[in-house]
Amino acid sequence: MNYLTAPLTDVDNPTRTLQAMGRVARGYSRIFAEGRHADRLSPSGHIRRTGFDLRLMVTGSEGVADGVRAITLCRPDRTPLPRWTPGAHIDVFTPQGRQRHYSLTGDPADVGSYRIAIRRLPDGTGSVEMHRLRVGDLLTVRGPRNAFNFAAAPSYLFLAGGIGITPIAPMVRAAAAAGAEWRLIYTGASRASMPFVDELVALDSSRVEVRPDDECGTPDVAEMVSHASARAAVYLCGPTGMLDAVRSVRDVAAAGIELHSERFSPPPVVGGQRFTVALARTGTEVEVAADETVLEAVRRVKPDVRYSCRQGFCGACRVRVLDGEVDHRDRVLIGEQRDDSMMICVSRAADRAVLDL
Ligand code: FES
Repeated sequence: MNYLTAPLTDVDNPTRTLQAMGRVARGYSRIFAEGRHADRLSPSGHIRRTGFDLRLMVTGSEGVADGVRAITLCRPDRTPLPRWTPGAHIDVFTPQGRQRHYSLTGDPADVGSYRIAIRRLPDGTGSVEMHRLRVGDLLTVRGPRNAFNFAAAPSYLFLAGGIGITPIAPMVRAAAAAGAEWRLIYTGASRASMPFVDELVALDSSRVEVRPDDECGTPDVAEMVSHASARAAVYLCGPTGMLDAVRSVRDVAAAGIELHSERFSPPPVVGGQRFTVALARTGTEVEVAADETVLEAVRRVKPDVRYSCRQGFCGACRVRVLDGEVDHRDRVLIGEQRDDSMMICVSRAADRAVLDL
């Protein structure tokens, strides 16, 4: 399938049938999740779940680079999975109930399985659990969803840093399959730590540059961007520093280059002020520093607080606000939802907020 010309389907652009199903699901949610008798009809679990969930089985777990495992997921009965487009991700609920989101990094034409890749982080409780998965384990998965859409463009420059290759790889394959003009610059700490190098180089070695830091030095972002032709689309996923550096390259806007990016780590707090949050269920008061998020501060006293994207778009960290004025910085809550809730991974309080935690 050519993803550059084919209309997006299902989750991205729902048909009338899917829209009708969505209305039915919303009605169900109103009765069983939000209605007066919701507690009795839907006893609360570790994490509140709404929307369509899949129960998938691990059918493969393979080391693909130092500290990185690729996990393959299928339905237990091997029936087809929902379709996805390059840039999409799924939310995975780990065996201990943590919610994490991972980019789909396999072939979108393969409706029999999903492939994700996870770098094990030193303090990453979720990534440690994911690395321990064995073939046959069952996981609850939500999605796929796409917040990093791949669109048609005259040419492409793909920039990936480390595990940021995961959403970029399917885009590169789609561009190659479509016969588009493209180039990939792939950076990472060392060659051994960079997943999928061989399969990407095999697409067209003349268009793929692999630049491990220990061989090539610290990436020169301005030089990397200079490879984009006028009116090119630049797709970028990597560490926060790399994204900020690309945005600050002045020629990007001047040359009419379209920049599309996704972070795999939280954005830095901008314009933050120090404030306090009170956790109503325990009476604990937590100071939130000017340069940290509420989530980071709360995790010091409540390490099991739920979260996933840490960027204000997945909804996992939504918390009821019992008192206080909130500076909403998320992309999830709309209208009245902002009256009594906040996404603690990005939103802040003016002075003091009381949270239902
Ligand atoms: S963790 Fe995703 S919105 Fe906060």
